[in-house]
Order: sequence, then C-alpha cells, then structure tokens
Amino acid sequence: MRVLGIETSCDETAVAIYDSDRGLLAHQLYSQVALHAEFGGVVPELAARDHVRKLLPLLSSVLGAAGLSKSQLDAVAYTSGPGLIGALLVGAAVARSFAFAQGLPALGVHHLEGHLLAPMLEADPPTYPFVALLVSGGHTLLAEIRGLGEYIILGSTLDDAAGEAFDKTAKVLGLNYPGGPALAKLAEGGRPDRFPFPRPMLDRPGLDFSFSGLKTAVVVTARNVELDAPTKADLACSFQEAVVDTLAAKCLRALEQTGATTLVVAGGVGANRRLRERLLQMGKQRGMQVRFPRMEFCTDNAAMIAYAGCQRLLAGEHDSLAIKATARWPMNSLRSPISMMTTST
Ligand code: KG4
Ligand code: ZN
Repeated sequence: MRVLGIETSCDETAVAIYDSDRGLLAHQLYSQVALHAEFGGVVPELAARDHVRKLLPLLSSVLGAAGLSKSQLDAVAYTSGPGLIGALLVGAAVARSFAFAQGLPALGVHHLEGHLLAPMLEADPPTYPFVALLVSGGHTLLAEIRGLGEYIILGSTLDDAAGEAFDKTAKVLGLNYPGGPALAKLAEGGRPDRFPFPRPMLDRPGLDFSFSGLKTAVVVTARNVELDAPTKADLACSFQEAVVDTLAAKCLRALEQTGATTLVVAGGVGANRRLRERLLQMGKQRGMQVRFPRMEFCTDNAAMIAYAGCQRLLAGEHDSLAIKATARWPMNSLRSPISMMTTST
C-alpha cells in the first residue's frame, strides 16, 4: 500500500509517500521558521496561510521525487490533531479533497502517534514493547508502546513541555526563536555545574514532569548576575543539564517500572546532543537499548504521518468523508485498530 502523508499541525508544511513494501519513497518539508522569527514564536494565522501557499507545490514536488503519478497512490494520511486549528484545517481539507478526487480512502492521524512510531521508519526498527520518551515543543510524555494503538501513558508534563522550557529560557538569555537549538549551542561553551538548578519532581515517585519552576529559577538567577557572555553560556549549560538529568532519571524509572529493555526518544528535543549522549551512556551502563529516529524524523515531518496512517489503514481502519481537525485530542483516547473492530462489531 502506497500512502501519501500530509503534516501541517504547526509551523512545518510536510509531505511524504510511504510504501508498505518498499519503505519511504520520498519526503519533503518546508519550514516556516523564518516567517515566524520576527515575532519570537509561531503566529497561528500566518502559519495557516503559509500552509495554503506551500502545500500543493510541495505535494507535486514529492510525487515527482518519488517518480509517481497521483493515480499510483492507494490512500492519504493526514495529521488531524492535536495542533493549531487553522494549520490543521489546511492539511485536512487538502488531504480529504485530494483523496475524494482520486477515489482514495483518507485517514486522520494523531500527531503524537506519528512521533512515537517515527523510529519504525529506520532500517532496524525497535521491537514492541518499548518505552518512548516524547519531548517536543508542545508535549512531554513517557509511554509504554505495546503495539499499534496500544499506548500506556506513564507520565506527562504538568505545565511546560521540555521544548517550551528550552524556548522560554532561551528568550530570557536573549536568544532568537526557535530558542531550543540556539540554547543548546550556547550551552556547548558553558559549565553544567555553575548554577545548581532544581531537578523537578525527582524527589517524589511517579513519572510526571514539571518544567516551569526550572525556567523560573533561571529567570531569577539571571536577574541577579551580570549577564556577560560566559555567564550566559553557564546559565544555558546548567539549565540544559538540569533538564537532561530529569529526563534521564524518569526514563530509567519508566524502564524499571515496565521491565522494557528498549527506550526510544522522539520529538524535537530528541535532537539535543547532550540528551542523546546521556541516554546512550545510561543504556550502555544498564544493558538497555536506546534508539533515536534520525534527526529529521525527530522534528515534525510527514514521513511519520504516512507511516502511522499506513499501519492503521492496513489494519482495516477507515474514516468517514468528514474533514477532521481537532486542536485538542488526548492521546489516551487512541485505540488499536483491532480493538476498534472488535468493539464495533
Ligand atoms: O517536535 P517538534 O519539531 O515540534 C513540536 O513541538 O511538535 O519540536 C520542537 C521543539 C522546540 O521547542 C525546539 O526548541 C526543540 O524542539 N528543539 C530543541 C533542539 N532542537 C529542537 N531543544 C533542545 N535542543 C535541541 N537541539
Ligand atoms: Zn511534533
């Protein structure tokens, strides 16, 4: 089955084609980072309008790169939530209309399911069950992945997402949007132990996260020191170390709690070099496998949406002809396609 994937949930327009026999045939992405940079963050209305401009040309380009015509596709998968509603609606409307015109089925995919399954696109995919850490700009969660649609949420953030904490802290340090990668770069020249920032929620049981107190600690500290270049680097590095320590400790707890021996890291913060280094080291020490999707599949992309949609379509799932877009869509409402069939018959 050859599935066209469309992702427009936030500030990236992305299109991909996944073939269940041959794997990923093509994937392309247009980032709106430059468009939003002058506003210091994503402007939802501008994001939606830019998806309108970029999506159709990108779709033609991906078909060209895969050497396929529209009639050689079997289905369409699109991100139907969660995300910015205007942005989602563009992808959903294009996906649904394209599928209707071609006489194909179309399926709305949960953006986070896409992230969680992204490692399955690699040549040597992890085997179920595994623990997944999803750390993006909008979400931070730990889940046990037992199979397609079988996700046990072990913990999530009570306030800011990890990426959001990176972005907000970067702003305090005067760094430009998107702050996460800029802060990580600044941290490379800093000292991790100069500022002993809190490791939130490590002193109590459970797998939930909280990052807003850590961000506030940086704000308070920054007010009381002279913000010269080395101090900024030390603040960035000490903050990053606190986030990485916290994430690593919770991952270890999740692995011990579930008995799983594989940890998969997904989402934009999964691109953080220090986090990768720390988790790989932890895996080595504990005899556990730690896997990361390639960098381009850590951040938003359409390959993960095409893949997730393809698996659900192959399992017999289908949607009505409605254009589906849901800004808020709790992950624990997802079901495996098999259980959906048994409960509906
Ligand atoms: O998954 P993603 O591309 O978008 C969604 O939020 O869905 O994640 C983007 C987030 C942003 O907050 C960005 O600052 C953060 O990932 N990020 C990083 C790094 N690269 C991206 N945070 C820390 N270090 C990085 N190297
Ligand atoms: Zn994402």
